[in-house]
Amino acid sequence: MTEQVSPVSTIPPHGGQLVNRLCAEGSEAGALRARAASAPHVRLSELSLSDLELIATGVYSPLTGFMGQADYARVVSEMRLADGLVWSIPITLPVTVLEAERLTVGGDVALLDSAGQLVGLLELSDIYTYDRMTEVQQVYGTTDAAHPGVARVLAQGDRYLAGAVWLLRAPQPPFPDIDYTPAQTRALFAERGWRRIVAFQTRNPIHRAHEYLQKCALEMADGLLLHPLVGETKSDDVPAAVRVESYHAVLEHYYPAGRVLLAAFPAAMRYAGPREAIFHALCRKNYGCTHFIVGRDHAGVGNYYGTYDAQRIFERFDPAEIGITPLLFEHAFHCHACGQIVTAKTCPHDSSQWLHLSGTQVRARLAAGELLPLEFTRPEVSRVLMRVYAPAPSSASK
Ligand code: ADX
Repeated sequence: MTEQVSPVSTIPPHGGQLVNRLCAEGSEAGALRARAASAPHVRLSELSLSDLELIATGVYSPLTGFMGQADYARVVSEMRLADGLVWSIPITLPVTVLEAERLTVGGDVALLDSAGQLVGLLELSDIYTYDRMTEVQQVYGTTDAAHPGVARVLAQGDRYLAGAVWLLRAPQPPFPDIDYTPAQTRALFAERGWRRIVAFQTRNPIHRAHEYLQKCALEMADGLLLHPLVGETKSDDVPAAVRVESYHAVLEHYYPAGRVLLAAFPAAMRYAGPREAIFHALCRKNYGCTHFIVGRDHAGVGNYYGTYDAQRIFERFDPAEIGITPLLFEHAFHCHACGQIVTAKTCPHDSSQWLHLSGTQVRARLAAGELLPLEFTRPEVSRVLMRVYAPAPSSASK
């Protein structure tokens, strides 16, 4: 008798269907390119290029293009698409009034990258104005231009272009060895037989508190998707290459290879805190994950959000409408008396026993050529960071 293997259950993509708008080869791609050749063009910012790729590869399922006015307005005011499906971040294509004037609703727009190369086609269904102050207040919770997400909205053009898109050139991944689309992660999870899959979003090099969260979650899951963001970030964030290298450094020695997948998440940071936590969770659901880690000040910046706002926002939705389950973690840190990473939920000691290092302290130590404390960061990671932040030894005098 053949052994019965029960099928691996996979979580459905948001809205039910995994979107695929990549059309880079074959006669259809040729026809789309011909349409683009005779269409007016728009040059995409790094953010819009990233959004185009994420729409096309299904990371933003069910979106098939840049949002029209009805979706946009309801996302901004209620965190829902026009049809009621939860969606927390507007995915829009801003252009200047001058650019918009050259375009015709109902026609095509060729989408170019910053080098002027054709990357996609937009089937322009609408051009609309928007109230940027309302948008930033609702999405970022502030109108302060010092907030990096707000600053980007304040600086962009006055019109949004809406419509379905086609990506005509497969994206050039910055980290080809860890590049996986949602279709690829889903296939891999099925191949590995993983059912409970927990995703970890990050824009930082891995430290011990991150590792604690990941491994606590992995105790209850079949697999862990380590998903460092590699799209645009603010200039003082650690560069993506360093973030990724820090993961390679620890994975080799401290993680069970068969239960972890390191993959790049090619989105830009918006720093929208709570709303971005929902967005990050929905994207990971599209990658096939069933659980998503949300710790302290997820996707936060400065003091704009409360430490656990990005966790509380999940309470505003029926868990079934989000689909992916958030795994909520308190602020974790090393306690000298416990001799391990703890949280206020698990540690009976007072703060004199707790190891806290600010970003400034971390940079000062690295600049002085000191490894960070083992309890804070593994030495393999310290050494990666030191290469970036410690001053290069002065070159021998000529
Ligand atoms: S984020 O912008 O991607 O959220 P970061 O890479 O610092 O920034 O955090 C990745 C995830 O780990 C987030 O869910 C965040 O809330 C969580 N996190 C980071 N540091 C800690 C910590 N010390 N304790 C608990 N959660 C943390």
